[in-house]
Amino acid sequence: MAVLKLYEYPHPILKKKAQKVEKVDDEMRKFLDDMLETMYADAGVGLAAPQVGVSQRVVVIDIAHDDEEPNPYYMVNPEIIWKSEEKVCGEEGCLSVPDQRAEVERFAAVKVKYLDYDGKEQELLAEGFLAIAVQHELDHLDGILYIDRISRLKRQMLLKKLEKMRKEKAHQ
Ligand code: NI
Repeated sequence: MAVLKLYEYPHPILKKKAQKVEKVDDEMRKFLDDMLETMYADAGVGLAAPQVGVSQRVVVIDIAHDDEEPNPYYMVNPEIIWKSEEKVCGEEGCLSVPDQRAEVERFAAVKVKYLDYDGKEQELLAEGFLAIAVQHELDHLDGILYIDRISRLKRQMLLKKLEKMRKEKAHQ
């Protein structure tokens, strides 16, 4: 397994709509392993393929806490097939927008259909934080970042902070 290079805002690959995967073969499984390792290396709870420079419809998610057993979800060609009426607001961050967080409104629960690590079709009813993670990662496949879902004013403030942090890091 290998830790892959992370692509950060405003890299154009993050704005692109990702392509459907033809089949889940050994090469794809190796990519899924690498994505998971990359996500764990940065203490993330989700990662989408465009974030490692691959414009394909692939995400990995693991919301287990540090003191729990790992519980990874591998999702190839995921699709939301049901959304709850209820919405919730929660704080989100993203490995492609480092060290920033903001409140985002999401559906409280979603049902997602996808191909798993073995290429088998699966359906998952995601609720709570898992539902938020699924919606955040699937957005990446359509070129949408969570900062696209907050007000323009909040986004400008957040991006200013990001720029400031990057400058500070560059001077260290
Ligand atoms: Ni993200």
